[in-house]
This record gives sequence, C-alpha cells and structure tokens, in this order.
Amino acid sequence: MENVQQERIAATATTPNMRDYENTYASMRWEEVEKQFSWHETGKVNMAYEAVDRHVEQGRGSKTALLYSDASREESYTFADIAAQSSRFANVLRGLGIGKGDRVFIFMPRTPELYFSLMGALKIGAVVGPLFEAFMETAVRDRLQDSEAVAIVTTPALLGRIPRSELPALKHVIVFGDDVPSEEGIVDYRTEMAGASEEAQIEWLGREDGLLLHYTSGSTGKPKGVYHVQNAMIQHYYTGQVVLDLQPDDVYWCTADPGWVTGTSYGIFAPWLNGVTNVIRGGRFSPQDWYATLQKYGVTVWYSAPTAFRMLMGAGDEVVQQYDLSKLRHVLSVGEPLNPEVVRWGLKVYGHRIHDTWWMTETGGQLVCNYPCMTIKPGSMGKPLPGIEAAIIDDNGNELPPNRMGNLAIRTPWPSMMRKIWNNPAKYEEYFRLQGWYVSGDSAYRDEEGYFWFQGRIDDVINTSGERVGPFEVESKLVEHPAIAEAGVIGKPDPMRGEIIKAFISLREGFEPSEELKKEIYTFVKVGLSAHAAPREIEFKDKLPKTRSGKIMRRVLKAWELDLPTGDLSTIED
Ligand code: WT7
Repeated sequence: MENVQQERIAATATTPNMRDYENTYASMRWEEVEKQFSWHETGKVNMAYEAVDRHVEQGRGSKTALLYSDASREESYTFADIAAQSSRFANVLRGLGIGKGDRVFIFMPRTPELYFSLMGALKIGAVVGPLFEAFMETAVRDRLQDSEAVAIVTTPALLGRIPRSELPALKHVIVFGDDVPSEEGIVDYRTEMAGASEEAQIEWLGREDGLLLHYTSGSTGKPKGVYHVQNAMIQHYYTGQVVLDLQPDDVYWCTADPGWVTGTSYGIFAPWLNGVTNVIRGGRFSPQDWYATLQKYGVTVWYSAPTAFRMLMGAGDEVVQQYDLSKLRHVLSVGEPLNPEVVRWGLKVYGHRIHDTWWMTETGGQLVCNYPCMTIKPGSMGKPLPGIEAAIIDDNGNELPPNRMGNLAIRTPWPSMMRKIWNNPAKYEEYFRLQGWYVSGDSAYRDEEGYFWFQGRIDDVINTSGERVGPFEVESKLVEHPAIAEAGVIGKPDPMRGEIIKAFISLREGFEPSEELKKEIYTFVKVGLSAHAAPREIEFKDKLPKTRSGKIMRRVLKAWELDLPTGDLSTIED
C-alpha cells in the first residue's frame, strides 16, 4: 500500500476527557477504570443498577435520562422515572417466574417501553436479545429457537411474526399496545405494569454473567448469537468518556436502533453509565426530521453512520441552513467506511469533523477511533483506544510492517469482548485461532504514524493483475464523482486479470445512466486513484442492496453478478 493519504484535519479543541492521545495511551490501565463500579467494593454488579439506579442513589434522580419523540409522542423521563419503570418491569418478569440467565427478547419499535423493558430484564439478571422491529418471521424464529428464549416483549402489530407453535421454550409473550389478545401465554404489558411495584430487588451478578445476546449475520449460514457479559460496562463507560467525549451537561443522540449493537452499547449504556441525557427518536429517517431533532433538543454529541451522512449530504447543504445546529460539539460515525468526501462535507456544513470509529458486534465496544484531541486523516479509522493493542498481522499471526495490508487483529482480551457464540463454540474459536489475537475478518493497514486504514472484509478484497485492491478505496473515489450517490464494488473473475473491478452505482437526482457517463467514471477513478483500481465494468442500479445498518452488501452484488445464491438476507433493508 503506497498511497498513504496525507490530508489532515487538525484537532479543533482539547477536552478534559482526553487532552493528549499518546500520553493517555501510554498510561491507560483498565484496572483504574474498573474502580468506578460497585463490584470494586462488593464483588457484585448489575448493568441496570450502574446505568440507572446508581444515579438515583447518588442524588441525580431528577436529571433527565431520556428525551423521546416520534410522530405521535413527545416525552421526557428522569433517571428516577427509568429506575421506577424498569423496576416495575423487573417485577412483572419475576412474577412470571423468569430470572437470572433466562433469555428475554425485545421485539418492538423504539419507544420508551423498549428501554423500560430492556432495563427491567437486566435488573433481574436476564440476558436480553434485542431484535430489530423489521425482522420477519424466519429471522425471529431462527433467533428465538437458537437462544431458547423464554419470553419476548412485543407489540400487537409484530405479534404475528412470532411463530409460537415452533418455539417450545417460549412461555410468555408480553404485548405493549391497544387490543392485546387474551390468550394463554399472552401478557398485557400495561395491565401488568400498572399492578407492579416500583421497588425491585436488583439481582446482583458477577462480572462474567450474561448481559446481551446480539445476533449478527455472517456472510454465510445462520445468524450468530454474540454473547456479551456485564464486564463490558467498563468499556462502555470509558469509551463514553474518551471517544464520545461525554460531559455532564451533554445532550447525546445515537441514531442506531437497539436491534444493533450500536443501539445498545452506545444508544443506552455508554450515555447512561456516564449519567448523560439520551435522545431517542422513533420512526424513520428523514433529513428534515433529523435536523429538527438536533435543533429541538440542542443535541451536543451525535453518533450516526456513513449511510445516514451520505443521505444527508444528498439532501443538500440548503437543508442544513434551515436549522440551528449551534449546540452541536462532537460528531461521530460507525458501521462502514466513512468516505473522506463525507468528512470534508461535514466540516463544511456542520463546522465539525466527523470522527470515524471502528468496532464490531463481536467486540462489544469501540476499538479503533478518532478522538477530539487528535488530528484526523480523512478515510482513516484512527488509532487504537487507550487500553487496546491493535495490529496488522499475516495469516500466521506475525505482525506486518507499516503500509502492508493484512488482518486487522486485536490483542486479547479486552473488557467488552464477546464471551461466546451461542451454541457454536467452533465459530467462536475461529476468531481466536491465532494465539493471543482476535482476528476481525477485516483487512486494513497501518501507516507510519499509527493510523489504521480500512480496506475491506477479508473476503471482499480484490486481486486484480496481482494487485490487491480494497473495495472501499474505489467506492470512496467513486462517491466523489458529482453524479454518484452510492457505489458498491466487487471483484469479478476475469481470465486475464484474475479479477476485474466491477462497480454498481446509484446516481444522484438529475443524472441519467449512459455509456458516456461510464467512460467518464472510469477515467475519474483511473486519474484520481490508479489504473488498476478503475472499474472496467459499471452497472447502474436504482438502489444498492444494504443492511439496515447501512452497509452495502457486496456479497449480494457478487451473487447477482455470478448468479450465485445470495445467502442469509434477514438483515437486508426493505
Ligand atoms: C463490521 C462490523 C459495531 C458497529 C456497527 C457495525 C465494518 C464497522 C467500520 C468503520 C470501516 C467498519 C467492518 C466490521 N465497520 N465500523 N469505522 N470503517 N468499516 O457492527 O454489524 O458487527 O459490523 O462493520 O467490516 O467488521 P457489525
């Protein structure tokens, strides 16, 4: 990898949470962070206590914990309110005979009740499995069967997607909403909550006791149940400090749904462990809505995803100017490569750098990030979190020198690392096959200054005429072209070149597909990046296949191209 980018955006502010990255990295000790939690004194812990009830006990009960709005509701809850509601729900579950270690799933749209249920389930030591509301029956069944869930919280609209006859372990379906059917095994959320006490005994847990079961789809086969434990809170808390840069008076908004790990680790735990006011916006994405949300609540810290930023960019700069976003202080991104073009645009229209963060469902927390006090190189994921050793290794576990592409790996362990893949120890072991390392499945390189550059999933890396090309690099260049809204790039087998680069492209409003445009795009990449990286084939599409978390599904593009089965599509956007 020769083309280490030289573009830099200097730090604009220092912050009390981390003034100097290198010094913090050198002196970071997880044992010091652990001292913030109750197990330090008692040996026992509970996420719900640390994130909610502790604030009440320590006199912060009247502070706003949740600012919620959707098309029909606008509500605000204090930490004391959340403590009370989650205790009620804990009592409801206990009344049903549910307890420590039982899997309780939550399958509902983002409403305050989702957050009460989730915290209530954690209070009794249940392991929570959050499901995205758009899952259809097969996706729901696979996950509930694999985990042998005993209860699920849902709404009347989603009830039909829970195939109870195929789920022998599922004893209770708790339904929030109007017209709850009175059937055996169905529990009316409102009725039960109304009769439950606001005082609940916290189930004290060990740090290695269960917290969450987050299902994630691999490139093949059934979804994997990634199991996280209480200990993860150390990392949620710490990254809330040094990555999200949370301060006591912040108003924080993470746009992710709790059906994805970002929506739990950073949509619930990191802000609440830090006692910070959390904004939740229900409903679908719309640029006007999102800007209105930022303005209405005076959001100061905003965590979103490249796909959203690209859509906001597509909506135009004029839209931004109609809103007062002056409270905004810190902007972050996760989930897929953050194109340099988007970073430049963010700086122009928001006046803020967008800080890329890299991590995975399996890692439970952020690992490689850009920090407010650090210079950003647009297109780079940043540097390892203090307390984390990241490296680029070859397939035998040897560390590679700077600028060589290889496996992005993390030295084991770290606090929020997954502790198993449910029912699948062999799959779990695969990640740790190289002694002392977690192998992420991403390829990347590190430059001489220690910045990490994402190149692709290992199986996405393209080998053309003996040159390895990361699809992200090409996609980033493509979206700099004024006609291109989104681009997905794959390697297409070619007798001459091993693989050639094929680009699937959706155009921005006002542009039409044409052979001229294909040639122009080819030349644009050839001139802007390199000849071997230029797409020899281009196909225009109205929409690209994406996961609901916004990742372009290259394996679906590849399957289209090669006439192969597309594999598991449960996470595809509708
Ligand atoms: C995969 C993990 C945990 C956050 C939500 C996604 C890709 C994630 C970045 C980034 C480039 C990224 C990787 C990773 N990814 N963040 N900043 N730059 N790629 O979680 O669904 O478990 O996906 O998302 O390929 O392995 P996930």
